[in-house]
Amino acid sequence: MKEVKIETRLEVYDKLEELPQSIQDLMKAAIEARDTAYAPYSKFNVGAAILLDNNEIIIGSNQENASYPSGLCAERTAIYYAGAKYPEAKMLTMALTASSKNQVTDKPIPPCGACRQAIAEYEVKQEYPIQIYFMGAKGKVVCSNSLSNLLPLVFENSVL
Ligand code: THU
Repeated sequence: MKEVKIETRLEVYDKLEELPQSIQDLMKAAIEARDTAYAPYSKFNVGAAILLDNNEIIIGSNQENASYPSGLCAERTAIYYAGAKYPEAKMLTMALTASSKNQVTDKPIPPCGACRQAIAEYEVKQEYPIQIYFMGAKGKVVCSNSLSNLLPLVFENSVL
């Protein structure tokens, strides 16, 4: 038996203002997108903004459904739209923010497992890392320089 230790690396910033202006602007787009969430059931609004290598910014927000599993997270709403609208573009950076009507979300909120898998697909496809910044409604911001930091042992198409 051999034990394998997996390490990951994240950057943690105390506040958004510590980041370069371009990242602050992308996060502002995510914050605006958060207000477009349709989340009457969870009251948990998530906004996503993706910067592409053609300089376009694609946004998304969570869209819920009375049949709960039919809803979709903000990250996948954004990433699938980016893939549909600009199939040739590389996704460079993703900014994520979440707020709740039930409590103050002052901790960084990472993408859920299903969204990590969806983002991983595009990182593998474009052979270029997708940088991910995530935060709550305020407070610390976490940066992962690649989706792979958030999803070790990713399931990807080379095994098919
Ligand atoms: N949600 C997202 O939009 N992204 C995530 O990564 C986690 C969860 C949404 C789904 C649902 O509308 C609400 O947040 C509560 O789970």
